[in-house]
Amino acid sequence: MAIGGEFMRRLLQDAGLRPSMRVLDAGCGSGDVTLIAAELVGSAGHVVGIDRSVGVVHAARERASAAGVGNVTFETRDIDDPPEGPFDAVVGRRVLMYHPDPVRAVRGLAAALREGGIAAFHEHAAVEPLSGDGLMLHRTAQGWLHETIRREDGNGRIGMELHAVLTQAGLNVVEVRAEAVVQTPTQHYALASIVGAVLPRIVERGVATADEIDIGTLEARLDAERIASGSTYVADMMFGAWGQKR
Ligand SMILES: C[S@@+](CC[C@H](N)C(=O)[O-])C[C@H]1O[C@@H](n2cnc3c(N)ncnc32)[C@H](O)[C@@H]1O
Repeated sequence: MAIGGEFMRRLLQDAGLRPSMRVLDAGCGSGDVTLIAAELVGSAGHVVGIDRSVGVVHAARERASAAGVGNVTFETRDIDDPPEGPFDAVVGRRVLMYHPDPVRAVRGLAAALREGGIAAFHEHAAVEPLSGDGLMLHRTAQGWLHETIRREDGNGRIGMELHAVLTQAGLNVVEVRAEAVVQTPTQHYALASIVGAVLPRIVERGVATADEIDIGTLEARLDAERIASGSTYVADMMFGAWGQKR
């Protein structure tokens, strides 16, 4: 499961996703969250995943079909143009950060909710490293990600803004929660895999070269750095927020 999978599952459960519900996953990517939601709503429920990228929608469909998951459908759509509701819940992970006007996006998605319906979002916020003395490679690798998001006009701090975004979109905010992403000498985090997944964008945006990143050895170098320093490193918070349509 991708980064934050367990966090998202708890968020959806606590926000109130239940069997039989009809759910919209906004900016579904290759379907990680769609599949979690599909499990929670069960065979009597249904989840529609939408994404503006044709390629990821195709991949999500193939993946669900290969896994024999029948209660999901995927559509190539912008989140500003949601499918017809009403949905019992609209959910999304790491998608509002890429929207130029997240309040407008959430308001538009909430319009497809029934009265009392749930809106639940998982986003991140970069924080100044709380620790990490000597962990220069960790700071550098995290910096590649943050700078790439910044150059793509993404909002790397939107987790901190979720309460305001949901409120301004007209929702009653029920809860905002956060967990730190913690790395220790013995606690691995998928930083190198994330850098690997984002590598073409890092290079394309001119943030770092493939040689500087040296993805083939990055994970081993990060692990070695934490083990040598004995430090704990925190530079990223996962935020979850949910609200209800009035
Ligand atoms: C970081 S990925 C997250 C994918 C998925 N939610 C997950 O957590 O695995 C962001 C996704 O949002 C999609 N996206 C960004 N802005 C969008 C928009 N305005 N409408 C539809 N999809 C959008 C991108 O195409 C991408 O697949």
